[in-house]
Amino acid sequence: MHKTTFRTHTCDELNTKNSDEKVTLSGWIMRRRDHGGLIFVDLRDRYGLTQIAIDPTKIAEANDIKIESVMQVKGVVRSRPEGMINAKLKTGEIEVVAEEIKILSTSKTPPFEIDSDKEVNEEMRLEYRYLDLRRTRMQRNIIVRHKVIKAVRDYFDKNDFVEVETPMLIKGTPEGSREYLVPSRLYPGKFFVLPQSPQQLKQLLMVSGFDRYFQIARCFRDEDQRGDRQPEFTQVDVEMSFVEAEDVMSVNEKLLIELLKEFAPDKKLMNVKLPRMTWKEAMDKYGADKPDIRFSLEIHDITDLVSGSGFKVFSEAKSVGNFVRGLLIPGGATFSRRELDEFEASAKSYGAHGLIYMVYEKGGIKSPILKYLKPEEVDAITKEFGAKEGDTVLICSAGFKVVCETLGHIRLVCGDKLNLRDKNVFAPLWVIEFPMFEWKPEENKLDASHHPFTAPMNEDVDLLDKEPEKARAKAYDLVLNGVEIGGGSVRIHDPKVQSRIFEILKITPEDAKLRFGHLLRAFEYGPPPHGGIAWGIDRFIMMILDEPNIREVIAFPKDQKAKDLMMGAPSEVPEKQIKEANISINLKS
Ligand code: AMO
Repeated sequence: MHKTTFRTHTCDELNTKNSDEKVTLSGWIMRRRDHGGLIFVDLRDRYGLTQIAIDPTKIAEANDIKIESVMQVKGVVRSRPEGMINAKLKTGEIEVVAEEIKILSTSKTPPFEIDSDKEVNEEMRLEYRYLDLRRTRMQRNIIVRHKVIKAVRDYFDKNDFVEVETPMLIKGTPEGSREYLVPSRLYPGKFFVLPQSPQQLKQLLMVSGFDRYFQIARCFRDEDQRGDRQPEFTQVDVEMSFVEAEDVMSVNEKLLIELLKEFAPDKKLMNVKLPRMTWKEAMDKYGADKPDIRFSLEIHDITDLVSGSGFKVFSEAKSVGNFVRGLLIPGGATFSRRELDEFEASAKSYGAHGLIYMVYEKGGIKSPILKYLKPEEVDAITKEFGAKEGDTVLICSAGFKVVCETLGHIRLVCGDKLNLRDKNVFAPLWVIEFPMFEWKPEENKLDASHHPFTAPMNEDVDLLDKEPEKARAKAYDLVLNGVEIGGGSVRIHDPKVQSRIFEILKITPEDAKLRFGHLLRAFEYGPPPHGGIAWGIDRFIMMILDEPNIREVIAFPKDQKAKDLMMGAPSEVPEKQIKEANISINLKS
């Protein structure tokens, strides 16, 4: 296929039709077996494997064959004898009988086996990433990644979007997470930052009239790492003019469905038309703003139902702004004491005082609160949850955030325990109508839930003056199986509304000018109504490949402590460079 100076064929190509042909292959020595005077080598390249038979009495270099070295073979294709055919291998019916071999480069013994699915310590894999990337799984992941990104590009191109590259060295304008700083050599004491996202630049492109923009954009965030976060990651970034939320969602939803059908054809797609669920409904029913709707196990609110009970935590809940909510776990009566204790411990870790269980055993209900409840209250609870013998109801009473987080977490844990999170199903949805703001107790002020350029819903504009914390945003998240794979919003293009938002966020006009002056100035020159979204494409690829974290789908990721173990970055730099960058280092510890 890819004939070059070093080969006539690639290692997946030859079959019985090529019998007796003289060929040249080049690749890595994956395995070597010595058999009845012959040496058999599996030669590997990106495309596949070919078995090479070498007679060491005729070919002296045969003694130099070492695993993972690079070898060129000239030889003749021969059908394998009957019993030697390997039906699993594309080239399993033939082998190449070597006439000449050349070791093009030698390899030390690799620190781990390339030729196996055996678990290898991740630090080792990351330190020797170039070897890790030789493994079948990683080759597959990187190639699928390439294909997904190509499909994304083709989709947007077909739909008249223009890809624009926005700069990597920009002005520091914190939108949320911490930025990476780049000191300026030419301007002492001044810094560029690396973009957390091209957010403001894509909005400026709307002012310029590029009404359909996209970019496969690298983003940088100096934040704590998790399985689905990297300090450097890739967004499919989109912005559109003359749109409302539905326009953005519909373009992106079509892309999502196309990608899922093409790249995960074996999985069941729960919805082809994505449901739109309000943030409120998601929190109330699933305890999360990124609900996993592959299974129900919905949260029920029983605050009113138990308001007259003799159990103070319940009866006083409403007056102190708490909610009493619970989950029915079908078959949960089999949970051990230890499992119930674990649920309680996780409830406490979210800030709840505790978690109450009602176990529907054969002889009756077992629960520490039974003695405080009237029989009709117990009946009402049983009816509300639809509980029957063998089930367990778990109840939590706390403020909105804590009650949602607690039950949302327990719901997922039970979903796993009961095997309800079917790996073969994809359940995408949009979560819409997010609150405009969230309260930051440590700063004693409201913060933008998405970012300060997100528009309020038309019907909530009046709330900005009276009860801003109740205002909902024209914001939407794309959620797949409980993972947020994208998020976006319609933006503010009215300077008056923007100033009002800055006021609410306690950003003074001077501060706004300093941080976002470029955007505000541009908005004095006819900004169109616009909105957009960004997908975390690493997360999406992780999901279609069933990988447990995004490091598996990034060629050269950082480790969980944001370090590059292969290059050894971050690292110290020579004093001369520090001087040139006009900075001095004053380590605190
Ligand atoms: P947001 O901050 O929600 O929005 O990011 C969009 C999507 O990017 C992914 N993501 C990440 N992926 C890997 N590692 C990270 N550290 C990381 N952080 C975020 C998530 C998320 O849904 N400019 C806005 C978008 C817009 O309004 O158009 C933005 O960046 O999947």
